[in-house]
Amino acid sequence: MRTEPVFLGWRAAMERALYGPGGFYLRERPAAHFRTSVHASPLFAEAVARLLRRVDEALDAPAELALVDLGAGRGELLTGVLARTAPELAARLRPFAVERAPRPAGLDPRIEWRAEPPAGVVGLLFANEWLDNVPLEVAETDEDGVPRLVEVAPDGTERLAGPVEGADAAWLARWWPLAGRPGERAEIGLPRDLAWAAAVGGLAGGLAVAVDYAHLRAERPVSGTLTGYRAGRAVAPVPDGSMDLTAHLASDSCAGPGARTLTQRAALHALGVRGARPPYELASRDPAGYLRALRDAGEAAELTDPAGLGGFHWLLCPVGVDIHWPGESTD
Ligand SMILES: C[S@@+](CC[C@H](N)C(=O)[O-])C[C@H]1O[C@@H](n2cnc3c(N)ncnc32)[C@H](O)[C@@H]1O
Repeated sequence: MRTEPVFLGWRAAMERALYGPGGFYLRERPAAHFRTSVHASPLFAEAVARLLRRVDEALDAPAELALVDLGAGRGELLTGVLARTAPELAARLRPFAVERAPRPAGLDPRIEWRAEPPAGVVGLLFANEWLDNVPLEVAETDEDGVPRLVEVAPDGTERLAGPVEGADAAWLARWWPLAGRPGERAEIGLPRDLAWAAAVGGLAGGLAVAVDYAHLRAERPVSGTLTGYRAGRAVAPVPDGSMDLTAHLASDSCAGPGARTLTQRAALHALGVRGARPPYELASRDPAGYLRALRDAGEAAELTDPAGLGGFHWLLCPVGVDIHWPGESTD
């Protein structure tokens, strides 16, 4: 007997494919499928360590400073930051990895591994490429220009379901208004806004930073951005557990009062990561130093490339402190 495929809204389908039993993130090592800034270069952890020092200063060196890595992967960023933190600060530092995947073997025992962000802590909360993996609904306008929810089967076949209603419709109208042309798509970012607000709400003081591929209201992509990543390649999104499923962040809808958005390029420049080549005369004076500086320049160029990682948005949400950020913003 032939069984009919089960269609789900994209939010439920993503949830199951990424985090359900046998889901992609519980099974796979993310670095085997895509490269984040954390994997691209140790300069990224160095920049986050510098940012942590700024936050510590702004908080007047509290007795306990939290570093919360939200969507910590295998703990690579925390490991890198700990290796670059001076003993005086490390002694006051409480590093938390917040992850749905299990704790990897051999991780630094100072890192507390947990499923939910801690509440009431002061310090830096950093979420690199977390929000783009928070499941969300997809809407598409039908022949009559009505936005409808998109449902998907495990093999990736899609169909249109009922009209978008309620809080989802209000979110669309405010943040991603559709012009009514048949086939336009939008990704309804409400679950991300709520997830981010809850994460920021856990900080009693300090800075929360979300870093992601993102877009603003004036420039939403007409066909949406939902994509699959498998073994280093972008592929059509299929919710079968075999691939990462990601959609860019509507960073303006996530930003609460007092938030600011910079490009990663501007943020990293402000934190001292620049792609300048070393002077040639260094090559004869200190050949090994020249090669190191050349490697760093190449990695910094990748992290700050406006057409790649440098075009990511850094959504900066201060909580009760004033942290000065030089540099241009995205808006
Ligand atoms: C794209 S990976 C990024 C990993 C790491 N931050 C990096 O930049 O390399 C996203 C991670 O977020 C985790 N994640 C997704 N939703 C989560 C949630 N609600 N709580 C904790 N971790 C979550 C996933 O399991 C996955 O490891």
